[in-house]
Parts: sequence; structure tokens; C-alpha cells
Amino acid sequence: MGRRWGLLVGVLGAVWLLGSGQGGRQPAESAAQRCFCQVSGYLDDCTCDVETIDRFNNYRLFPRLQNLLESDYFRYYKVNLKRPCPFWNDISQCGRRDCAVKPCQSDEVPDGIKSVSYKYSEEANSLIEECEQAERLGAVDESLSEETQKAVLQWTKHDDSSDNFCEADDIQSPDAEYVDLLLNPERYTGYKGPDAWKIWNVIYEENCFKPQTIKRPLNPLASGQENTFYSWLEGLCVEKRAFYRLISGLHASINVHLSARYLLQDTWLEKKWGHNVTEFQQRFDGILTKGEGPRRLKNLYFLYLIELRALSKVVPFFERPDFQLFTGNKIQDAENKMLLLEILHEIKSFPLHFDENSFFAGDKKEANKLKEDFRLHFRNISRIMDCVGCLKCRLWGKLQTQGLGTALKILFSEKLIANMPESGPSYEFHLTRQEIVSLFNAFGRISTSVKELENFRKLLQNIH
Ligand SMILES: *[C@@H]1O[C@H](CO)[C@@H](O)[C@H](O)[C@H]1NC(C)=O
Ligand SMILES: *[C@@H]1O[C@H](CO)[C@@H](O)[C@H](O)[C@H]1NC(C)=O
Repeated sequence: MGRRWGLLVGVLGAVWLLGSGQGGRQPAESAAQRCFCQVSGYLDDCTCDVETIDRFNNYRLFPRLQNLLESDYFRYYKVNLKRPCPFWNDISQCGRRDCAVKPCQSDEVPDGIKSVSYKYSEEANSLIEECEQAERLGAVDESLSEETQKAVLQWTKHDDSSDNFCEADDIQSPDAEYVDLLLNPERYTGYKGPDAWKIWNVIYEENCFKPQTIKRPLNPLASGQENTFYSWLEGLCVEKRAFYRLISGLHASINVHLSARYLLQDTWLEKKWGHNVTEFQQRFDGILTKGEGPRRLKNLYFLYLIELRALSKVVPFFERPDFQLFTGNKIQDAENKMLLLEILHEIKSFPLHFDENSFFAGDKKEANKLKEDFRLHFRNISRIMDCVGCLKCRLWGKLQTQGLGTALKILFSEKLIANMPESGPSYEFHLTRQEIVSLFNAFGRISTSVKELENFRKLLQNIH
């Protein structure tokens, strides 16, 4: 296929200030307090408080979302893990067994998913098949019916529309394979040290609108000059600050997973994964991290709210009667769509949604330039994922960046107007199956992180 089915996109906004209320009841020195004392109460600039998010996520959303993500539609993710790193060559492939990804055998994936990976309705599907056939025949020309020509144009337009400015992961490449996400869970792999550090360093150092005048403040921990870093951050416009917070939130979320699925026991008899409180503290304890930990956790909530808002905005797209979670199993597909809509309506009912309208709101020309900058930066981050030496980490890194990119595409798409009037959803807005799968799985990861924070809070209350 010559067409690029755009996937990621970057643009976003908003931010809250760092302060927040004190909410704890334990003595100030307790271990739990040191990670969480600043992560409670109201989050400024956003009418939301952490406790409301926790309750909403942990009891209403998380269990149903897990159910949905176990379905065939969402568990098979097509990904090219063999793309060369575009930035440097000395990638040391992680040789550990836990880093390996086992792709699906071709008969494991339902045919309905395999035949056309971006299919979402029967009608769209038959159009796509016609288009594909047209391409195989080598031409989009007079030999096609007028209708097909229109369809081809229509789909091509979806691709290079202003919504889809990010590079598509080349899932049409022969190297792309289906991966069963349930069989390749994100967990501790032992991939850390200089290689892992390099990736995050590049992400922070090269891609967060680094100003020329300041040498190395971008990864606050690496710098050892937090004050320079935060005064720099406060000096940025909200959009650039938000960009940094999203990256930091993603980083935090991934580290919560690794601490919650730590390889606790590794003998020839058995492997056991579970919570490692020490690891969690090393990453999030206020004292051990010199105040960074609680900030990271707040950024995680920020990321949560951004993706939650995107999901509530895109409801009309999924409500379209012709939209299906198509796998070929009619009954299951219908049940899954019902569950999906139930989840989306729950999300819509969340009372304290984040307001993205203040981003890129200023001078039109400047706003567009800023948006364009975001695209370039975000796209770079998605390409950096091809440099991750541990394949399992690369898989989940790619999936979560693609999911965030899709959320941003939704938030800042001009075709999808929030609070759609009764006239119904816009048919110009389009998401590929790939985008849908990554969007929900990425949100599922952050939802899991928020849930895990509750577990760590309990575990930490038992130590002092
Ligand atoms: C993209 O990343 C590369 C490698 O880190 C860097 O050299 C380049 O300046 C980055 N571009 C943008 C727009 O961030
Ligand atoms: C927990 O993580 C720490 C590193 O943060 C490590 O030293 C320790 O061995 C781990 N504990 C277990 C039981 O694996």
C-alpha cells in the first residue's frame, strides 16, 4: 500500500501549576506520605482533584476497561519492531529472555482483523478493499468506477489531512507482525542502566524545546540544578510546558508498571513478578528523588486527564451506527461495541473534564506555528522508540506513544468539534484500527498505573 495511514500526531495543551493541598492524615515522615503527600487535593488550573480521579478510575473505569482490552479486537496489535533506529547505530540489543517479544502465528489472529487492519465498518471495509485492489492493479485511473475513484481520493485525503501529520508506523511493511498484548505484558525486563537512560535522556534533552541558552537542565534529575530547570519550565508558554509534562507522565507511568511487575524471583523453577516497594520509592519518594517523585506522579495524572478528555470528545465517532469493532465474530463484535460505548459514556459523565480550548488559542499564525512544532517534536519521540534496545520495551513504548499521539489528534482535530450538536457526528473524522487499538491500550496502561498507585499507597503504609 502506498498510502500512509497516519497514526501519530502531536499537539496538545494545558498545564497545572505545581502546588496543591495537603491531604494526608499520617505522620509527616511516613513512607507513604513521602511519595504521596503532595499528590492529593486540588490540581490547580484544572477543576479536578486527585481523589476524585482515583475513585472514578479504580472503581468505575478500570475493571470494565480491562475486560474490553482482553477482547480479540484490542489484544492484537500490529507493529514493526524491526525498524532501524534513525538516530544512532550502536544499539545494544538486550539479550535477556524477558526482553523478547513473541509474535503471533498467522493462524492465531482472527481473519477479520488480519484482512484489513484499519477496518472499522463493513461499508468502509469494502471501499478499502476496492481501493487496495485498485492499487494492486497499479493505478487509480479511468479504469475505476467513478465511485471508487472518489473513495480512493477520500481515503487518501484522510491520510494527508492536517490531522494526521505524524509518520505512520509502517505496518504495511513485511516486517510488521501481530503481537498478542496479553501474552507479552509490560513488566520489568531488567532493561535499565546506561542504555535505557540514554533513550529517556535523548527524549528529554533533544525534544523538549530546549532553549539555546541553557546547557543541560532538561532532565531535572540528571542536571542536579532543579531550580534552573523549574524556572526555565515556568517561563515557557503553557503548551510547551504541557508537552514536557506529558512526556514526564508517560515516563512515570512506565516506571509504575515496572515497579508493580518487578521480577521478584528468578530461579530455574519459577519466575515471580510482583510489587517492589523499594524500586517504587527509588523512583517516587520525595526525599530520595529530591522532590522529583511527587511531581512525576502529578504529571501522570495530567496525562490521564488529557487522554480521558480525548476519549470523551471522540464518543460521537464510536457511536456511529456503521462503526464496528470488527473481528468477524458478529455476536462478540456487537457485545464489545456495547461495552465500549458503556465505558465511553462513563468517561463522558466524569464531571471534571479538562478544558483543552485554551491551547493554541492565541494569534492564529503563532498558534499554527506552535502546533507544527509540536508535531515535529512528537514525531521525533515516536521515532526514538525504534532505538530502544529491549524489544518488549520498544513494543510498549511504541504503543503508548502512538496512543498518546492519537489522543492529541482527537483533541486538536478541527474536524471533530467537541459537544457535537444534534446534527450528528462528523464523517470526515477518521481513526484507523491501529489508532483505536493503541488509544485504548495506552489509556489502559495509565488507568492501570493510577490503580497501582493505590496498591503502593497501601503497601507503603505498612513500612516506616
Ligand atoms: C529529533 O531528534 C534528533 C535526535 O535526537 C535531534 O537531533 C533533532 O534535533 C530532533 N528534532 C526535533 C524537531 O526535535
Ligand atoms: C527491589 O528493587 C531493588 C532495587 O530498587 C532491588 O535491589 C531489590 O533486590 C528488589 N527486591 C526484590 C525482592 O527483588
